[in-house]
Amino acid sequence: MKSSAARQSIPARPAIKTSDLEALLSSAKSVCVLTGAGISQESGVPTFRGAGGLWKQYRPEELATPEAFARDPMTVWEWYAWRREIIGRAQPNAAHFALAELEQRFAGDRNGDPAGEQAEPFTLLTQNVDGLHERAGSRNVIRLHGDIWRLRCTQCGAERQDNSVPLDPFPPRCDCSSLMRPGVVWFGEPLPDAAWRRATMAAGSAELFLIVGTSALVEPAASLPLLGKQNGARLVEINLDPTPLSGLAELSIRGKAAEVLGPLQEKIRRGKIGKIPTL
Ligand SMILES: NC(=O)c1ccc[n+]([C@@H]2O[C@H](COP(=O)([O-])OP(=O)(O)OC[C@H]3O[C@@H](n4cnc5c(N)ncnc54)[C@H](O)[C@@H]3O)[C@@H](O)[C@H]2O)c1
Ligand SMILES: [Zn+2]
Repeated sequence: MKSSAARQSIPARPAIKTSDLEALLSSAKSVCVLTGAGISQESGVPTFRGAGGLWKQYRPEELATPEAFARDPMTVWEWYAWRREIIGRAQPNAAHFALAELEQRFAGDRNGDPAGEQAEPFTLLTQNVDGLHERAGSRNVIRLHGDIWRLRCTQCGAERQDNSVPLDPFPPRCDCSSLMRPGVVWFGEPLPDAAWRRATMAAGSAELFLIVGTSALVEPAASLPLLGKQNGARLVEINLDPTPLSGLAELSIRGKAAEVLGPLQEKIRRGKIGKIPTL
């Protein structure tokens, strides 16, 4: 098929140069990745900061707190129900798939080490609660901020998985009849112990630290790349905008996660990028 000469040609967007990233991935023996809401933006999941993602007149930071839930559980639950609806419709994008491929390349069939006693060749740390990494096939995912599909009782602490949209009854109740809350980590709450231990272990032992789609403003997750750097990791950032980590990164790629990482997926699969470690 030929395009008509009369048709106005649209200038192609220049491809983002990824050869430096490919070289770094190929020379590293271990990789730690930290992802944030930006990696799911191209799946249609709104980020907290940056354009879009407005919800009524509230700021997410004001809703994602234990105090907000204690004051007005219905409003907080409505916000989470809205997000569960969006996330339930979303599909993993090329960036999620590329990271799953990278895990396969580095870790092969090795399972994760839940006890966190051993350094891993590949670890994916995510601040996201959407589960899109797992749906793309990533297995060794450390969820720093919990899971939007889990519910936890505010009284007895019982947890359950609930993927239903809409939730019924709403707001959800435990078998003990108390109110359930979303199984996520809110501002002002500590991160789960085991996840944090494994995260610091991976961050402190990786040769390459890839930071994707996070504003790097939410602590303590934002300090993980710094821990990596202090321990000799080379930092690479992929983000639409500059962040506090940009100046520390050896390579800072301005672009959309799926546009940058997506094209690497096939090369990783064919063994052109990334090393299989010798065990
Ligand atoms: N998908 C989710 O699960 C989800 C969504 C929103 C917020 N959160 C929660 O929000 C908190 C905020 O921290 P955060 O840093 O993860 O999110 P954030 O909203 O603070 O920052 C998102 C970052 O991604 C960048 N970005 C936007 N679109 C991008 C794209 N297509 N490619 C690359 N970069 C892009 C933005 O410039 C920004 O720096 C976390 O605690 C997280 O739990 C999670
Ligand atoms: Zn209960």
